[in-house]
Amino acid sequence: MKQEKKEYLISMIKKYQEEKQGGVRILETGIGFYPHGGFTKVCKDLMRSQDTLDTVDICPEHIKEYINHSGEQDNIKIHNSDSVDFIKNTSFKYDLVYLDSVNCKNHIFNEFIEVMDKLNDKALVVVDDSGIKSHNQHKWDSYKGLKVYEYLIEKQIPFDIPCWNVLSAAF
Ligand SMILES: C[S@@+](CC[C@H](N)C(=O)[O-])C[C@H]1O[C@@H](n2cnc3c(N)ncnc32)[C@H](O)[C@@H]1O
Repeated sequence: MKQEKKEYLISMIKKYQEEKQGGVRILETGIGFYPHGGFTKVCKDLMRSQDTLDTVDICPEHIKEYINHSGEQDNIKIHNSDSVDFIKNTSFKYDLVYLDSVNCKNHIFNEFIEVMDKLNDKALVVVDDSGIKSHNQHKWDSYKGLKVYEYLIEKQIPFDIPCWNVLSAAF
């Protein structure tokens, strides 16, 4: 993970931790199954006992790989499911959401629409590899956030491109 992105994600997690001493609830779609780690590892390194990460992945092998590299801990809840199904069915509400599953703008948009009902006040939704370089530009090899981006513009919902290829919107 690029340093700039890592620093942004760390700063966001810390911000919510400061605001929510009782515990932050985080949702990630797509687990960080590779050894160098991504968002899953960032969370693992920063989480306090009162914080919880729900990470959902459709692929049992990726879950197994993550557990082989990183082990298991009580407050990292790993779910083997399609992400949209998981979000539809979860009864939890989230402070920080990281959408990072399949490189498909429609799937990520469906995650985004479903998660809108599952947010705590002042929650932040981040789309990784969004395809949005800066306002009105996008790159083509990853494009997870393109449909979310179009929706945010159409609905005039404020958003930010805090660092390379990351789209975030606060609600
Ligand atoms: C880019 S990786 C996730 C990386 C991780 N978020 C991180 O930063 O550490 C994408 C993951 O999404 C999973 N995935 C693909 N389609 C999915 C779906 N429909 N529902 C849930 N997970 C899915 C893949 O199996 C893969 O493990």
